[in-house]
Amino acid sequence: MLLTTAIDYTNGSPHIGHAYEKVLTDVLARYQRLCGRPVYFLTGVDQHGQKVEQTAAKEGLSPEQYVAVVTARFRALWEKIGVDYDGWAATTDVRHKSCVQDILSDLKEKGELYKKSYEGFYSVRQEQFLTDRDRDERGGFGPEWGEVVEIREENWYFRLSAHTAWLQEFLEKNDVILPQFRKAELLNALQRNAGTDLCISRPKERLRWGIEFPFDHDYVTYVWFDALINYISFAGYGGKNADLPDFETIWRDTVHVIGKDILVPAHGIYWFCMLHAMGFADQDMPKLLVHGWWNIRGEKMSKTLGNVVDPDQLADAFGVDALRYCLVRDISTGKDSDFDVERLVMLFNTELANELGNLCNRALNMSQRFTGGVLHCHFPLEDVDLALQQSLADSLAQYSEAMDHFDVAKALEALNRHVVHCNVYAERMKPWELNKNPENSNRVATVLYHLAESVAHCAVMLSPVLPDASAKLASQLNLPDLLSRTLDQLSWGLLENGHIIDKPHPVFPRIVVAAATES
Ligand code: ME8
Ligand code: MG
Repeated sequence: MLLTTAIDYTNGSPHIGHAYEKVLTDVLARYQRLCGRPVYFLTGVDQHGQKVEQTAAKEGLSPEQYVAVVTARFRALWEKIGVDYDGWAATTDVRHKSCVQDILSDLKEKGELYKKSYEGFYSVRQEQFLTDRDRDERGGFGPEWGEVVEIREENWYFRLSAHTAWLQEFLEKNDVILPQFRKAELLNALQRNAGTDLCISRPKERLRWGIEFPFDHDYVTYVWFDALINYISFAGYGGKNADLPDFETIWRDTVHVIGKDILVPAHGIYWFCMLHAMGFADQDMPKLLVHGWWNIRGEKMSKTLGNVVDPDQLADAFGVDALRYCLVRDISTGKDSDFDVERLVMLFNTELANELGNLCNRALNMSQRFTGGVLHCHFPLEDVDLALQQSLADSLAQYSEAMDHFDVAKALEALNRHVVHCNVYAERMKPWELNKNPENSNRVATVLYHLAESVAHCAVMLSPVLPDASAKLASQLNLPDLLSRTLDQLSWGLLENGHIIDKPHPVFPRIVVAAATES
């Protein structure tokens, strides 16, 4: 399976939306690995285009120098927050350029490209030609287009309109757009776009920073045409590079994780039609997992904590665990969400520091104190023990079901339900009270065994989201191989009778907001 994110524009710094998409995809990739399924996680940067050229010029740098600086910033952040990708797509990479050029030549050969002269309006900000359909009610071009200029030029066009009838039927018959509700939006847009071809070149006199047309050296490739191809060029398409994966193997079951703003028209229309023109069959079309938008309530955040919306600063202030957790916990795949630092702190403190932290503390600390760190489950079990085991089995099933449908928020809810169950169980069983009477020693051990066994399972389920914290838990449980097993190998009894745990340390220390404000 190939899992990709969009490639981020390198005309600024990574923001919370970028970080969200990386972490979400990282979690999904780690989950696939946890299930023992082969997965290749591809991410990277979109380095060409007018915006980059302009920003570089503003900073007094060449585009090459500028993208090198910005790209390094992106990569450093992904490393810092544990985004563990397999492949790095950078559109200035020579392997990518040559793949794009091969595809252009191939499409030209097939009659999919033609050159024509066009006179009309062009949006500098959106880097695209405008038509009457882009006009607002008053007949003008709205502020979203930025500066609009009238130009006349010759360009290369891709026969998009030759593929839209196929696309319409394909979309109607197949569930390739996730979540489902985005499909109607795409089909509407398709109807509006059906008759138009796509301009895929820019004359060099207007834009130098792009991939040159192999058969017309005065032109470079339109930024979207270049960028979309990253998904196959870095997946080994064309088979020219031994250091890239085997395309036939990894392209099966491809999922592109993208934000809702780039579904229409780029991925939902251009990309499917481009692939179709290249000869991809229906069953080889990728799926699009479309996520929602993070909105920033700047006011509210600045009041309490200063303007901490930069993911790098958030990681410094609250820790990588809190950042990763809140990004995937707080947005059910598909919908929009408000980013709010107070909510980040609340989620971490409630669900991790309090609930899970409490469970770990009870399981590990009390075992250390009451049973000398030795775990033992004594029979017969009581109904409450069996109910706890059932709660775990249910939670695991719901977790897998949600993750298989790319819904990380729902999966974490399922995990948390079991954690809450365990804490209620602990409060009912009161091992700290039981322990006061030596006659109860077997019962104390059994209760703590149930809690520790739950921690072991929770560590595995949490590992795609918080790999470091899970590794710490595995180590404190003295189960070094815990995280190398696959999810289907997970069953009650990970801890053998007589197993001795390691020294416990808190893994989810409470975030104290006052301390964070001062930094
Ligand atoms: O669109 N909330 O790059 P990009 C959630 N280079 N997601 C967000 C977001 C937000 N506030 N802001 C951006 C591009 N994103 C192109 C992609 S792919 C062949 C080329 C998401 O840097 C956005 O939806 O503007 C996209 O998926 C990704 O971040 C990169 O956005
Ligand atoms: Mg964008």
